[in-house]
Amino acid sequence: MDLCPNRPSFLTIYKWSELLSEIDSSKMLYLFAHAPSQLAPVAMLRLDMTEPAGWISSLWVHPEHRKRGLASSLISRAVVNCKERSLQTIGLTVHNDNADARKLYERRGFLQYINSHEGYTQLVKVL
Ligand SMILES: CC(C)(COP(=O)(O)OP(=O)(O)OC[C@H]1O[C@@H](n2cnc3c(N)ncnc32)[C@H](O)[C@@H]1OP(=O)(O)O)[C@@H](O)C(=O)NCCC(=O)NCCS
Repeated sequence: MDLCPNRPSFLTIYKWSELLSEIDSSKMLYLFAHAPSQLAPVAMLRLDMTEPAGWISSLWVHPEHRKRGLASSLISRAVVNCKERSLQTIGLTVHNDNADARKLYERRGFLQYINSHEGYTQLVKVL
């Protein structure tokens, strides 16, 4: 029996996109997603921005919080930040074995650019 029938579910209460926080500097931006009542972030994206391109150099989501759209939200925020700075592209490197991550990026408009160093592929999204 639900003792609090009017209480929204965990995911309804907390809109992840509204829980993102930022630490900014002129050429580097960290985006974090926080779970309620947890001090440490549960997801993080590092974005490097050097004209004319943005670069996602790190993206990680805590295993317990995956498949909830956190990485997608962080990527969307990274794209917005790059557009605000009038950057032309946003890119990243993904390991060829990381099929889930690659699918995530490709469904969000990232295209294969080049095979970079051994076992890795660069993906780029035109802004
Ligand atoms: C890859 C990684 C960042 C993805 O993070 P994530 O938060 O699970 O990603 P999302 O939830 O935004 O999207 C993952 C999938 O879950 C789906 N999803 C999102 N919300 C969902 C929900 N509520 N219910 C079911 N599925 C959902 C998305 O549609 C997406 O599927 P798709 O790629 O087929 O479109 C995470 O698995 C990770 O940290 N891996 C280890 C580090 C790593 O590999 N980093 C990338 C290096 S390049």
